[in-house]
Amino acid sequence: PTPEPFRVPLSIPQVAAPVAPGRYEVTQRVARVEILPGLRTEVWGYGGTFPGPTFELRRGAPATVRVRNELPVPTSTHLHGGVTPSDSDGYPTDLVIPAGGHAGGHAGHAARMTHPGEVHHEGARDYHYPVGQRAATLWYHDHRMDYTAPAVWQGLAGFALVRDEEEDALPLPAGERELPLMICDRSFGEDGSFLYPRNHEGHDAAYMAGVEGDVILVNGAPWPVAEVTATRYRLRLLNACNARRLNLRLAPGGRFTQVGSDDGLLAAPLEHDALPMSPSERYDVVVDFSAYPVGSTVTLVNTLVDGAAGNVMRFVVARRAKDDSVVPKRLSRPPERPAPVATRSFDFRRTDSGWTVNGRLYRPGDLLARPRLGTAEVWRLTSDFHHPVHVHLAHFQVLARNGREPAPTDAGWKDTVDVRPYEVVDVLARFEGYRGRYMLHCHNLEHEDMAMMADFEVI
Ligand code: C2O
Ligand code: CU
Repeated sequence: PTPEPFRVPLSIPQVAAPVAPGRYEVTQRVARVEILPGLRTEVWGYGGTFPGPTFELRRGAPATVRVRNELPVPTSTHLHGGVTPSDSDGYPTDLVIPAGGHAGGHAGHAARMTHPGEVHHEGARDYHYPVGQRAATLWYHDHRMDYTAPAVWQGLAGFALVRDEEEDALPLPAGERELPLMICDRSFGEDGSFLYPRNHEGHDAAYMAGVEGDVILVNGAPWPVAEVTATRYRLRLLNACNARRLNLRLAPGGRFTQVGSDDGLLAAPLEHDALPMSPSERYDVVVDFSAYPVGSTVTLVNTLVDGAAGNVMRFVVARRAKDDSVVPKRLSRPPERPAPVATRSFDFRRTDSGWTVNGRLYRPGDLLARPRLGTAEVWRLTSDFHHPVHVHLAHFQVLARNGREPAPTDAGWKDTVDVRPYEVVDVLARFEGYRGRYMLHCHNLEHEDMAMMADFEVI
């Protein structure tokens, strides 16, 4: 069933309420929700919703999140973009086993594979987030070994927004004029259920590029519509697709004023006509709807495809309103680029054994690098295909693509970069925060599940 576009109103995920200062509890559970009008979809949701609740975090205010697992499968939760101690980072074999000790895998798998060093927490566990980092648009999602793609497809994802004083002082659009927008694609069965290739069909030749859906959801609603005033809005855009890349534009035209990248505010705003977004990249942008006539519509489109999937959502400019917001010429003082102490290469490539990093299929504990805490390194990323490369813990800046200046849309501190076919992307990564074991991997979730991951240890 393909719903009619621009009929379902956009909704904004609930903000998670703390149970005590700095303490949150969220239960992962199965729920039946209305995504397609008139039908029910079974989701696996944090808090039983899709997206899960938004965690509003503040720099300098540590948060502990107790994740309770009432799903039929084990889980591991990763705060994407988080500067998080290793044991709360959502390592793929660090599992919360469903309450009742059901450690089994997907139906259809007789015995669940176990991995060396697998850790089991029964029913629930606490994740500790020190939140020492700058204001940024982060998100969280499942990260279980071999099953991240189907679990995220089923709904295990949500926003986590970090705020700080530097950002508070800016007169950017806020309140109802600040919209976190989680964009993802899904396919649906006749009965409204999520369709995902069963068992490990997702690893078949037919899905080598990853699994894409034909319906675009924003905050869990198909091609939604939002009424806006003819004022500035801040859009926190997240590509939460498993595998689909986006190139966002405004129709009938218009510009995005970028104020932030994956991991925080830029030093100064940048203007873009289009935003290329590989899975897990974020853009924090301001759109000025006063540039459009009252009564007109503005459509967010993805120019990489024709037809229905080329639409994302629609804004209806309903009326004029007072606007005190400004996009200042100076936004923030991001950390400077430190001088690198080493250069390393990571090659993302399909070989006869599968999707590999430096020729190796992922094995937990197999370290590919040991950078030093407090230093920076140049990591050279190469590939045979489109691979959105994500590094845990370390934020980076794109230094060069094929030896040339990066694109204007590569600006700022990031944690995910689209490495395009046969491209050489140099990034400068800062190893700040914590020692311990972390990972880098392809964020095409099907590639990730097919072992395109690697461990490194900050020493
Ligand atoms: Cu968003 Cu290691 O993942
Ligand atoms: Cu990949």
